[in-house]
Amino acid sequence: MELRDMEQVGKLSVAELRDLQLQRMQQTLHHAYQNSPVYKQKFDEAGVHPDDLKTLADLAKFPFTTKKDLRDNYPFGMFAVPKEKIVRVHASSGTTGQPTVVGYTQKDIDNWADIVARCLQGAGLSAKDTVQVSYGYGLFTGGLGAHYGVERLGATVIPMSGGQTDRQVQLIKDFEPTALMVTPSYCVNIIENLEKNFGSAKNTSLKVGIFGAEPWTKELRQEIEERLNIKALDIYGLSEVMGPGVAMQCLDDGDGLTIWEDHFYPEIIHPETGEVLPDGEEGELVFTTITKEGLPMIRYRTRDLTRLYAGENRAMRRMNKVVGRSDDMLIIRGVNVFPTQIEEQILKVEHLIPNYEIHVCKKGHMDSLHIRTEMMQYNDLLAQTRMQQLQRNIKIMIGISVTVEIVPENTLPRSEGKAKRVFDLRKTA
Ligand code: DLL
Repeated sequence: MELRDMEQVGKLSVAELRDLQLQRMQQTLHHAYQNSPVYKQKFDEAGVHPDDLKTLADLAKFPFTTKKDLRDNYPFGMFAVPKEKIVRVHASSGTTGQPTVVGYTQKDIDNWADIVARCLQGAGLSAKDTVQVSYGYGLFTGGLGAHYGVERLGATVIPMSGGQTDRQVQLIKDFEPTALMVTPSYCVNIIENLEKNFGSAKNTSLKVGIFGAEPWTKELRQEIEERLNIKALDIYGLSEVMGPGVAMQCLDDGDGLTIWEDHFYPEIIHPETGEVLPDGEEGELVFTTITKEGLPMIRYRTRDLTRLYAGENRAMRRMNKVVGRSDDMLIIRGVNVFPTQIEEQILKVEHLIPNYEIHVCKKGHMDSLHIRTEMMQYNDLLAQTRMQQLQRNIKIMIGISVTVEIVPENTLPRSEGKAKRVFDLRKTA
């Protein structure tokens, strides 16, 4: 069954979808077992065989795959097709250890383009639109992943990539794109540039923005929507599973994101016990790819925390906006804190700019947080008031005492892709 576009996806019933998933999952498990020695060994050690999957729930018997499996088999050890069938590789930056490498067959690339085209349709775009892609091109999946999707839709792509903000803004003015695909943190940077050079960012040709690759809050969405006068939508994905487009906040999805379940089978597990949790409960998102050839992923632990719930306009389930990764969660004097919770509070204080850094330090035996954020129309007196306000709000809303430093606009480094928010000084102390 080919579900090329949104119209076909909309007609699919839940029962049809589950049948399709079971059939594709069985094929994928056999493919992985037969063609990837790593999976064969993992399944054998766990005492399971692909024939044991009689229902979708049987997936819980199979072992998880983690980033460590990819690192241990760097670079191509987990690929499940001969090298000549791989037409593209992407890789993570590997700032924390060995990079992870992923590979795609031509069919995988085709499916990916279809899936991203579907995301764009979900955002209300068609062949008539022009899309500026400001995700980085290269080993990162963002740029090329988005690019092929725009072309598949038949729309016009401006392959701008990340960086060169003056040029980004000039092209928005000259080429008049109707949509922008970029990380939310870099979008703030683009908005500031438009405001600085043209007085306002509200009067561009843009009508929709498709933002992802990092966690961002509803407050930031609102801020971007107001300042750029567009509709801001959330796109989710990860290289190990495919790249951008695993899930998309379609215009009719409300705050959630539709997971393209005909390609990616989601589960939510308890992050510590690994137990599968029912829909509706929050936990770690796990994906099994059910069409991928080059690098099938069986029960890949994303570390992203969210919950699943029923679709409204489609059989496919939705996931909540991802507020953070379990890896990014800070535990400050026993309280769990995500960087996005700090962002939420910053955006509630007038004059503060959502360009911030969170420094984690150790004072004696205690962990402490120091927040640096920027302010518009800076003056010492106002900065003092805003600092106290933010400190108080964080204490009330999150329950921790922090120190806050307010600095003038353009003091802190600007993101051109994924923003680095957390600086853990405990490791170097
Ligand atoms: O960031 C793929 C991507 C590119 C998605 C462009 C969307 C747009 P990775 O570099 O492998 O791939 O990073 C994947 O980024 O596990 C999440 O923690 C985070 N992430 C991605 N999208 C979102 C989002 C790409 N919409 C990791 N909201 C994921 C929150 C996101 N976090």
